[in-house]
Amino acid sequence: MPFGEVAMNKFWTLLISLSFVSVMMILPCSQSWGESLSALPPAPPVPSGNLQTAAKVALGKTLFFDPRLSVNGSVSCAFCHVPTAGYGDPKPVSLGVGGKRGGRNAPSVLNAAYFPLQFWDGRAGSLEEQVIGPLTNPVEMADPNYQSIVARLNKIHVYRVRFHQVFGSGVSIDHIAQAIASFERTLVTPNSPYDRFMMGETNALSPAQKRGLAIFEGKGRCAVCHNGALLSDGAFHNLGVPQVGTSSVDVGRYAVTHNMSDKGRFRTPTLRNVALTAPYMHDGAFRTLGEVVDFYDAGGGKTPYAKDVLIAPLHLSKQEKSDLVSFLNSLSGETEKQKSYHASRFH
Ligand code: HEC
Ligand code: HEC
Repeated sequence: MPFGEVAMNKFWTLLISLSFVSVMMILPCSQSWGESLSALPPAPPVPSGNLQTAAKVALGKTLFFDPRLSVNGSVSCAFCHVPTAGYGDPKPVSLGVGGKRGGRNAPSVLNAAYFPLQFWDGRAGSLEEQVIGPLTNPVEMADPNYQSIVARLNKIHVYRVRFHQVFGSGVSIDHIAQAIASFERTLVTPNSPYDRFMMGETNALSPAQKRGLAIFEGKGRCAVCHNGALLSDGAFHNLGVPQVGTSSVDVGRYAVTHNMSDKGRFRTPTLRNVALTAPYMHDGAFRTLGEVVDFYDAGGGKTPYAKDVLIAPLHLSKQEKSDLVSFLNSLSGETEKQKSYHASRFH
């Protein structure tokens, strides 16, 4: 190929990629992302190997709240996933057995069943796989191994009976995981004001919340990453969140993939019930939603790794910031109590 032709080829490649990049940069500002937002589907997917039954869910619930799952009987799942705090942890990073501090903020378990990948770094592919993580994690429930938990629960008469009723056999680590995962699949919070608005109830959002939604989809570009039924793309991004707390460095998704580009990336969290789950981000760096919005408005933070190209200063007015926070407050759904109240009223 003569030199001139190579140069022309390069020129066209450059031109095409430049125009692609500029389209990509203009899109998030000019397009409305409304079509990608949606109400919460009534039930999360259930794996064929672990079908839901009432008895299994009830057993999972008992296990979730039972501190005897931890090595010294002090820490249950609910110790860090606190029901009154939206099943998240009001502490910036969780404290496990013996007061040991972990490095990350406990995300809400509400609606986690809709996420294909669990944890801030997506290292577990299902709820069943997730459950067994904390049991032997030295800074969480600190059991030396699975056999010791199984042996402990097998000594408890009611557990022997209930595992037999549900699974037709005694306690096993897989059955503990299946029961807890089944319970977690019931921790869903539909019918938030936002969902009701999306389903056509135009007065479900206040005027400030409607303005906030428009910023969320438009000028704020939030919906580029916070979309779909969970208000999360399920993908991993680096916003430059300041690393605070016990870990001086957290490489995030990189620990799972070992791709350099994943350094400092964390899974986009759901924003459902976000009003209940302070503090925020993987390390609990921000105490309030106002602080989170200020962080985005400033174009995110400093990071030694590559920051997401979508994170840039937003130039929001004071009013726009407060509208955005009002919108975030519309994402709290119905709790179990409210659901059963409605069910008893209408059926
Ligand atoms: C000592 C505190 C602690 C205990 C006890 C604990 N967790 Fe967690 N949980 C966390 C933290 C911290 C994370 C985030 C860790 C990470 O992403 O690396 C987490 C993550 C999760 C997630 C992932 C949610 C998501 O959106 O990705 C689920 C589900 C979960 N925990 C359920 C449980 C269950 C079930 C138990 C009991 C068997 C349990 N946790 C016990 C602190 C705790
Ligand atoms: C580039 C993708 C992206 C964009 C754009 C984005 N977010 Fe996020 N958001 C994330 C990720 C990733 C995290 C977690 C980051 C971390 O912990 O390091 C997060 C965390 C949050 C949290 C904390 C939730 C929790 O449970 O801790 C809130 C609130 C939030 N975002 C709201 C917004 C708002 C409001 C906007 C628009 C102004 C926005 N986000 C824009 C990806 C994004």
